[in-house]
Amino acid sequence: MPCELGLAKEFFDKEIDLLSAHYPGLNWHRFQQELKDLFLRTHYRVGSDSESRAALEEFFSQVRMGVPFEYISNRAYFYRSEFYVNEDVLIPRSETESLVEIAASFLKKSIDKNKVLDLGTGSGCIAISIAMEVGRALEVTASDISDKALEVTRINYFRHQFLMPKKTSFKTIKSDRFSNLEEGFDLIATNPPYIKEKADRGLVHDQVDMHEPHLALYLKEAEYDQWFKELFDSSFKALNPDGILLMEGHENHLSNLAPLAEQSGFNHVKILPDLQGSNRFLQGIKLQR
Ligand SMILES: C[S@@+](CC[C@H](N)C(=O)[O-])C[C@H]1O[C@@H](n2cnc3c(N)ncnc32)[C@H](O)[C@@H]1O
Repeated sequence: MPCELGLAKEFFDKEIDLLSAHYPGLNWHRFQQELKDLFLRTHYRVGSDSESRAALEEFFSQVRMGVPFEYISNRAYFYRSEFYVNEDVLIPRSETESLVEIAASFLKKSIDKNKVLDLGTGSGCIAISIAMEVGRALEVTASDISDKALEVTRINYFRHQFLMPKKTSFKTIKSDRFSNLEEGFDLIATNPPYIKEKADRGLVHDQVDMHEPHLALYLKEAEYDQWFKELFDSSFKALNPDGILLMEGHENHLSNLAPLAEQSGFNHVKILPDLQGSNRFLQGIKLQR
């Protein structure tokens, strides 16, 4: 490793401008940490000097292209756990952790509410974190339109299932929004794609645009409001009375979507901030009639 570290420092000093553009705020300490982690814990574990050098060169070529460290190491931290990730799923974001907190607090207070849907589950980080947090067995459905994303969800479920309360049930379903889903949920959590493909794209960092799945990020503006209206209509229908919808959304668009949720029948529709104070979540209740 000392020899590799010397080469890595040389590479880092030479490529600092490129690296800073790809990884804002990157410093030598973080770079070194990523490299050490790779050599210690991942598929970069190597034997001979030549294998070690080849692994280092592969790492250099990936960082030159700006591949997020989470995809290089195949792991990302979310809430209280480490998740397997690859380029088929969004890298879980820290702001989404508040969605888990709100969901878990609702479920802890309502002990008769056990049926949870995470729509657009990706890595499964929301569904799995909720299942581990609530402290009693839940019936969890994790759905996504992408088969490849669901393979990642299942890897993460297998890795975390022993940390879930006994009798927790967890199923993955391929579904375009509600096309293959049954009804009868007490809580629907969703972090759907919510960036307008053209209007908002300029605000998206190049590294995200180049490496994260567009299916997880973008919606076409012409379909945007209708896409969410259909999501709200189907969510309302799929919820049990007194069930709750919790949705992450775009800070610039959530206030336009709130009236659509009300039109679908939701009551007490609220927009909640993330930890940075930006409008980030929409909550609506399906009241008992
Ligand atoms: C923003 S990512 C969220 C992933 C994960 N839940 C998270 O919070 O990190 C959106 C997810 O929704 C999925 N998705 C996109 N369109 C969908 C649709 N029409 N129906 C269901 N899932 C969809 C994507 O494949 C992606 O996994």
